[in-house]
Amino acid sequence: MLNDWVKVAKVSNLRDPDMMVVNAGKNEILLAKVNGVYYAINNVCSHAYAMLDQGTLHADALEVECPLHESYFHLETGAARHPPAEEPVATYGVKVEGDDILVGPKA
Ligand code: FES
Repeated sequence: MLNDWVKVAKVSNLRDPDMMVVNAGKNEILLAKVNGVYYAINNVCSHAYAMLDQGTLHADALEVECPLHESYFHLETGAARHPPAEEPVATYGVKVEGDDILVGPKA
């Protein structure tokens, strides 16, 4: 949960498609860019303790695959789309100001 917008990266830090882990306060967030659109979801898998930035980005499906048990999470909704994970991961808003990428509360 984020109440304020936090600068987490520069536009030049991400290719397209690409993903990276960023920190916003106590939140470890997976920041992704696909087809010019930024997405931000919680970086910790909802199934067990694995970091989604260590997984695989499936840009065509807007999904990231967990490296541990291969669950898939939708970048826009955070929904778990493949077992064993059933719970979604949190999603965040993303905006760009100049060269800066900010994450914050989702509208
Ligand atoms: S830890 Fe991610 S699917 Fe099990």
